[in-house]
Amino acid sequence: MSENTILKGKSRDEIAKAYKSEPWWYDLRGFFILTFAYNSTLSSQIRFLGKNFGPKHLEVACGTGTLLQYILYWRSFKKLPQSNIIGIDYAESMLAGALYRFKNKKYINFIHADAAQLPFPDESFDTINVANSVHCLPDVAAALKDIHRVLRPHGTFAANVLLYPSGRGLLSYFATRINNWGIKKGILVTPYHRSHIRGLYEKSGFTIIEESVSGNCYNVLLTKFVH
Ligand SMILES: C[S@@+](CC[C@H](N)C(=O)[O-])C[C@H]1O[C@@H](n2cnc3c(N)ncnc32)[C@H](O)[C@@H]1O
Repeated sequence: MSENTILKGKSRDEIAKAYKSEPWWYDLRGFFILTFAYNSTLSSQIRFLGKNFGPKHLEVACGTGTLLQYILYWRSFKKLPQSNIIGIDYAESMLAGALYRFKNKKYINFIHADAAQLPFPDESFDTINVANSVHCLPDVAAALKDIHRVLRPHGTFAANVLLYPSGRGLLSYFATRINNWGIKKGILVTPYHRSHIRGLYEKSGFTIIEESVSGNCYNVLLTKFVH
């Protein structure tokens, strides 16, 4: 795959349809995918993404908000400041789960939107997270461009991206099988090679601050550097 590839295998509507499942099944399935495809743990995701919450935060492709809720529990346990949060997702059923989960929380709102056409003015957010979803976006280049647009100068953007499994052992075999199933079902667009997604971030105007690989997951913290 070249650095310029725009992935349009499935449309956003087909992807939204693939995510039309009961929130409890989505969460259970997510646990297996996290363990066997990402080879990662909930606690490492919470610690990585939980650090990136400024006063005005955007959560792109928030799903049912399960992970977001764990992250907010963790932040409250660590006595970290509360943020005003907007969550967006293209699948209405996922958003319905998130709305129900956070129905009494005034500091968090949800909007039905496409990551590639964010309905916000330029430079609206201090921080943006995309959790477990970069590899689920049909037009990742357009989404990164719009995320860059709505992030304020020197704001930070954190994302974890599913990588092609490395190695040849049983774990890689299972990860590859799960990924192929996810692509067929439409809940995954593609895993990435690190150099490819790194190139797309840089091409969208982001500067890498921190990066690490954990299991089959590439964690990266980026900023919108302005001269
Ligand atoms: C694997 S889920 C991750 C959800 C959540 N962030 C989490 O970590 O549990 C991927 C999410 O991406 C959303 N998604 C896919 N394409 C999208 C798009 N173009 N715009 C907004 N959301 C999208 C799906 O609806 C789904 O909720």
